[in-house]
Amino acid sequence: MADLLLGLQWGDEGKGKIVDVLTSNYDIIARFQGGPNAGHTLEFDGIKHVLRTIPSGIFHSNSINIIGNGVVIDPVVFKSEIDGLSKFNIDLKSRLILSRKAHLILPTHRLLDAASETAKGKAKIGSTLKGIGPTYMDKTGRNGLRIGDIELSDFKERYRALAEKHQAMIKFYDVNIQYNLAELEKEFFEAVEALKQFTFIDSEAYLHDAQKAGKTILCEGAQGSLLDVDFGTYPFVTSSNTTAAGACTGLGIAPNKIKEVYGIFKAYTTRVGSGPFPTEDFGEAGDIMAKVGNEFGSVTGRKRRCGWLDLVALKYAVQINGVTQLMMMKGDVLSGFDTLKVATAYQYQGKEIDHLPYNIEPENVSPVYKEFKGWKADLTGMHSYDELPSELKSYIEFIEKEVEVPIKIVSVGPDRKQTIMR
Ligand code: GDP
Ligand code: IMO
Ligand code: MG
Repeated sequence: MADLLLGLQWGDEGKGKIVDVLTSNYDIIARFQGGPNAGHTLEFDGIKHVLRTIPSGIFHSNSINIIGNGVVIDPVVFKSEIDGLSKFNIDLKSRLILSRKAHLILPTHRLLDAASETAKGKAKIGSTLKGIGPTYMDKTGRNGLRIGDIELSDFKERYRALAEKHQAMIKFYDVNIQYNLAELEKEFFEAVEALKQFTFIDSEAYLHDAQKAGKTILCEGAQGSLLDVDFGTYPFVTSSNTTAAGACTGLGIAPNKIKEVYGIFKAYTTRVGSGPFPTEDFGEAGDIMAKVGNEFGSVTGRKRRCGWLDLVALKYAVQINGVTQLMMMKGDVLSGFDTLKVATAYQYQGKEIDHLPYNIEPENVSPVYKEFKGWKADLTGMHSYDELPSELKSYIEFIEKEVEVPIKIVSVGPDRKQTIMR
């Protein structure tokens, strides 16, 4: 059996922190989609780590970390992650293994991402520009290169053929993208050499055997449900299935082998990049959330847009993923507000609705809010549910009642220790 952990909003919910907290209960941590567009932050012993491709269980000596077939890997970013971890004396080569079927991000995929975004102008997605979209396009277009191809004698020729095709495509966009391919390729092939020192596996078979042997597996999602290519706010989404089904296709774990689905959400909402965000707050409240919550992208450093919790969107994500347990993050950031707002419905075409419609652009929906009394207490030093202010407990209990799933973890700070289990 495997459990699954994923984000229910627009990413950055705190997945990295919670995977790290839960890892001691699991033999295997497996990333199933996305790539270096992700930035998963872990904090403990006064140190902050941001992981991009490497699963968030890497700091625990008892667990094996797998990068699954659904992930797209940029060797250059992967190498920089490895280099960054070198000072921690982790036996990475035995604890980190890669699926042969995971696709490779080429330097030209990154350039194509930049060309596509530039060509879109004002309509740009706000991509992290890590080459994610173009790499998944090559995967579904059946042109991609995979980790397993590195082991083939003609890898360089295959690389060359694809990179040349990409160069022609970059020209087609007719935008001014400056690059020095020779330099980028030097860096790429050096990183490929570093990658080769790791074990490549057929991860679906590995995970099948692990399940048979009774090993426990935690699947780690990246991004969030509202960025899912099918169910998110298309076209302002990422290029993979970030929802529960993505764990099955991204690891080869059968649907009936998934047990708990942990859904993570912030006590408010953030979004980075373009696209609709019904509960976005453009006033003082949004600014306070951004400042107190330190809402700057872990990958791009961009300021995250902030707003109130959206229960319409949260319920939608819970349904699509079959969430069995919720984890509420960053409650501490809301301390100090006199009044909190939560969207419980949308005003849509003259009616009040409580589901996510096809189009949630501002001209189509406006949120209907319920107000809650805020609390003043600093939560960051609290260790048990009993200690929490009664107003926060009412907030939590209201969400549970609306969404019909229990909140099992309340996170009150970025550190591993600032985690309240219920
Ligand atoms: P992920 O992509 O889902 O792993 O989330 P990120 O790491 O991109 O963003 C979450 C940010 O919030 C990180 O800077 C975390 O250190 C921080 N964080 C996580 N949980 C809490 C919390 O409960 N309170 C506060 N104040 N910060 C938190
Ligand atoms: P984690 O795993 C937040 C957003 C980008 C952009 C859109 C498409 O850290 O939660 P892409 O680079 O995939 O082409 O970008 O998706 N995005 C994220 N936002 N957290 C992430 O990952 C994200 N990964 C992509 O900002 O709007
Ligand atoms: Mg993140």
